[in-house]
Amino acid sequence: MKILGIETSCDETSAAVIADNRVLSNVIASQAVHLQFGGVVPELASRAHVRKIVPIVKEALKEARVSLTDVDAIAVTHGPGLIGALLVGVNYAKGLAMALKKPLIGVNHLEGHIYSNFLTHPELEPPFLVLLVSGGHTMLLLVEAHLKYRLLGQTRDDAIGEAYDKVAKLLGLGYPGGPVIDKRAQQGNPEYVTFPKGLAQDESFDFSYSGLKTAVANFLKSLSSREIEHHMNDICAAFQKAAVDILVEKTIRAARTFQIRRITIAGGVAANSYLRSEMARRAAEYHLDIFVPEFQYCTDNAAMIARAGWQRLQAGFQSDLYLNAFATLPLGEPLLTHAG
Ligand code: KG4
Ligand code: ZN
Repeated sequence: MKILGIETSCDETSAAVIADNRVLSNVIASQAVHLQFGGVVPELASRAHVRKIVPIVKEALKEARVSLTDVDAIAVTHGPGLIGALLVGVNYAKGLAMALKKPLIGVNHLEGHIYSNFLTHPELEPPFLVLLVSGGHTMLLLVEAHLKYRLLGQTRDDAIGEAYDKVAKLLGLGYPGGPVIDKRAQQGNPEYVTFPKGLAQDESFDFSYSGLKTAVANFLKSLSSREIEHHMNDICAAFQKAAVDILVEKTIRAARTFQIRRITIAGGVAANSYLRSEMARRAAEYHLDIFVPEFQYCTDNAAMIARAGWQRLQAGFQSDLYLNAFATLPLGEPLLTHAG
């Protein structure tokens, strides 16, 4: 079955064609317009999606060597995200579905991130844990069955990707912060300074990143600009250690508590080299299996939306032309159950 996926929830316009688990194309246009502002400007994002959506879908079809009539269904992100940005994709997908008389499937962006794992690991089967870490979310979930999630914990304040982006801004490293901090941290000494790990003593599986961000800001105030420059890589490494170690610790503890043998990571921060290696190292200690999506499926992309849409379609879900976009959209609703 061939699914056309469309993703416009933030600052990437993306379209993809998948044939079951096989990605035939995955075209992503990142919006450079936001770089000068150090963060995403919602109105500019919407306008860029309007300009890009038609050429990007055309390119995805061309690369996949598929015509619109070969497409069996259209999957589109309808939340959570920037409302104006989401509406561009949702309305375009609705128009296509109506014109082609093909099924339309609204996909939760977070479900897309979770299902990105199946593009790389088609053999993966629930139950498994997923650590979902992105610019907007930090969640630890138990996928009990396909499309059925149990929330074990989440951030009580900032998302981890947001912390990377804010710390990068404090250090003058530009936006987005994750990739550059990741790279610099590889050459730094993580023991140079110890930053606090949020909710480390807390028994819950929740996270917190606002304290870490403030600790970095306060530490920087105690240094001269020459010292900051000299120790930039060390500061990145120390921040990254505090930010990531707690994710790994709580994920491993959850796997043992709930007796789940399979661990996956997803979302933009899943591209982080230290998170990937540290999770693999700790999982091996406890003989747990770890599944990690390929880099190109970690950050926002439409292949993951198409894959999650295919799962929903197989389970009998389909949207009608009243499908709307939502800035906040609970994952798996009405299938999400809360732990405890
Ligand atoms: O999933 P994503 O593309 O968009 C959202 O749904 O938020 O995630 C973007 C986030 C940004 O905060 C970015 O700084 C972070 O993912 N990120 C990384 C890395 N690559 C992207 N964070 C840490 N290390 C990376 N290598
Ligand atoms: Zn995302």
